[in-house]
Amino acid sequence: MKTLFFSILALNLFLYKTAVDAQAVQAPVITGEKVKDTDGNFINAHGAGVLYHNKTYYLFGEIKKGKTWLVPGQSWEDYRVPAGGISCYSSKDFKQWKYEGVALAAVKGQPSHDLDTSKVIERPKVIYNSATKKFVMWMHIDANDYSYSQAGVAVSNNPAGPYTYLKSVRPNGQMSRDMTVFKNDDGKAYLIYSSEDNNTMHVCLLSEDYLAPTTKYERILVGRRREAPGMFKNEGKYYLITSGCTGWSPNAATYAVANSPLGPWKEQGNPCVGPDANTTFQSQSTFVLPLEGKKNAFLFMADRWNKQNLEDSRYSWLPMQVVNGKVFIPWKNNKS
Ligand code: GLA
Repeated sequence: MKTLFFSILALNLFLYKTAVDAQAVQAPVITGEKVKDTDGNFINAHGAGVLYHNKTYYLFGEIKKGKTWLVPGQSWEDYRVPAGGISCYSSKDFKQWKYEGVALAAVKGQPSHDLDTSKVIERPKVIYNSATKKFVMWMHIDANDYSYSQAGVAVSNNPAGPYTYLKSVRPNGQMSRDMTVFKNDDGKAYLIYSSEDNNTMHVCLLSEDYLAPTTKYERILVGRRREAPGMFKNEGKYYLITSGCTGWSPNAATYAVANSPLGPWKEQGNPCVGPDANTTFQSQSTFVLPLEGKKNAFLFMADRWNKQNLEDSRYSWLPMQVVNGKVFIPWKNNKS
């Protein structure tokens, strides 16, 4: 009887594992390259985020098109292209990407509009609100000297859009530049952004409809000057990968760990391992995607910016794992 019980248990475990493996996505390894869509065009989705909905991945990113120019009178390398709006691509397998069109269009000739081509529209991130059945996009909205420092929000009934732009805000009166959103498994969502002139990050709980910041927020990584945040959860712990603040030039990533999205957060070291680990493999973080159907398997998504020709910027997508509470992003050369 006991033997039969254990045989059935073993068979169930085997079937479960086979089912999980069959669903599992084998994300491609992209090492500072361009990626083509199914029309053969290069994917134009920088500072990207991914939404997984109804067995489909939706990739959103900044459209970078046109001649790169340097904003005059800045003390740093403020290279820009006209704000191009937000693109969307969809995929079932993370390999074949179908262009879904412009999810949020920029506007022309309205300099006071948040989405005017003279502005900054960066780092779009989309989450789904199952109560309102709306897709909510948050993004960084700025003036081209980065003095505006606001978080913009747009909404749609369809994952790929088009999205209706609502407004931009300074959450609780605080500056908001590089940002991400994180939807927890209890349905609560958080906006995470570089604040206080990039000196300190904030994590702010969003309202139940995800359309506004609440007054509940925490200052984290105080005085550490971090940006480009990507948050994820693994085995009950929360992780936040960030870059330092060196404009479009790459620097070393670090990660932080917490027991709750609001912290307290404890900064750890650099998760990258291998050549160019001290420049995040010449890239800057933008998003961490949990791989569906796999346990403890993530895709670290980053931008390899070409600051003097931003349209020519590339992507680094690398597998990432947590081992005994430590995050590892090993370099992988997909040419070998
Ligand atoms: C950093 C940010 C980017 C962008 C550039 C502008 O790299 O992470 O999103 O704002 O600065 O220089």
